Amino acid sequence: MTALAVRGGRVLDPSRQLDAVADLVISDGRVVAVGPDAGRDATEAVDASGLLVLPGLVDIHCHLREPGFEHKETIETGTLAAARGGFTTVCCMPNTEPPLDTPALLRWLRERAEQVGHVRVLPIACVSRGRQGRELADLAELAEAGAVAFSDDGDPVADPALLRRALEYASALGLPIIEHCEEKSLSDGGAVHEGWVATRLGLRGIPAAAEEAAVARALALAAETGGRLHIAHISAAGAVELLRWAKARGAAVTAEATPHHLCLTHEAVLGNGEAPGGLAYDTNAKVNPPLRARADAAACALALAEGVIDCVATDHAPHAVEDKLCEFDLAAFGISGLETALALCLSLVHEGRLALERLVEAMTIGPVRALGLDRHLPGVGTLAVGAPGDVTIVDPTQEWTVDPERFASKGKNTPLAGRRLRGKVVCTIYGGKTVWRE
Ligand code: DOR
Repeated sequence: MTALAVRGGRVLDPSRQLDAVADLVISDGRVVAVGPDAGRDATEAVDASGLLVLPGLVDIHCHLREPGFEHKETIETGTLAAARGGFTTVCCMPNTEPPLDTPALLRWLRERAEQVGHVRVLPIACVSRGRQGRELADLAELAEAGAVAFSDDGDPVADPALLRRALEYASALGLPIIEHCEEKSLSDGGAVHEGWVATRLGLRGIPAAAEEAAVARALALAAETGGRLHIAHISAAGAVELLRWAKARGAAVTAEATPHHLCLTHEAVLGNGEAPGGLAYDTNAKVNPPLRARADAAACALALAEGVIDCVATDHAPHAVEDKLCEFDLAAFGISGLETALALCLSLVHEGRLALERLVEAMTIGPVRALGLDRHLPGVGTLAVGAPGDVTIVDPTQEWTVDPERFASKGKNTPLAGRRLRGKVVCTIYGGKTVWRE
């Protein structure tokens, strides 16, 4: 039998408090051994000495844009971007055209991902029919067709009565509702965080209260129904406080933060206007929820370190050049994030604000537990014997400059262009197959 060995790296698997220099062996698509010299007799080997060997990273929030917006991204390009970013499992959001609100569409998507995907794709289905927020989609049939969660992401489930019913139904199916927490009456027309940058640029702001009010509402409904609530892309310090309060009372709620909300602030919107030929503003920093103030980002990073925020998710939102090369108000919301996620988050580790083990946890077993993905795929997000043979190898010292033109993603929309980052994914193995190697 052929076996692939990853030899001599620092194997870090927070699900089992494993942190040791060891070999890891994959055969028949599964982890078969981890230990010193375990890979001695393998037929094929990757030398990982001096490198980190992690469970394949898991992203529970990305936009692959297919069907309907193939000019922005496809399952093929999005999953290659995932592989380059070290992700072996991604959950894709249903704000496609048509939206993923029928079992037939979900089955089509899963088949397509089997054919052209470079990594595993698990679909998230709509909460409401057509993502219109009026009536519930057929949640039970969507679960049957492979949905791992439900969300109208891109928009909130604006009607609290519908959100309440969705939480009740989904909890009967054992699946979470992922809520994009935004009170539209407060945010509509806004383009950036309501703060000094908005004032300076003369743009309408999105107040933190738009998120806080929606988080409070969702938490109340989750408590009332006992439904499993997962809060998408939390960004405001006040929302983090509400989450902390709810968890202290034992609520069955989880939350994710994006690398950009953890590491960037609304000042990024100012672009590099001081530089010759520089922009007066950078639409690549326009994202929903908006990049917020330093205190908000710090509150998110602290909550991630403490485990109050359960995991990191990219909210990879690729857009075409023309969606961003326009007036700020007209530009699309979103950041192409799969290929910079790990390195950007590592900056928190380099700054001493986040333990490396905790970051790895938040990008592997953390997201798996948040959505209960191990129910569908035992062992995913771990390097336990019998787990899927998904491994990410990282050079923690390598420095590199972000060049969006070199992204595998069609979405070149990142505010990080030209930025130096430290820590690079050098090899991604999915199901025992090398899907990316530098
Ligand atoms: O910035 C964003 N872009 N936020 C969202 O919630 C949706 C996403 C998209 O689909 O482009």
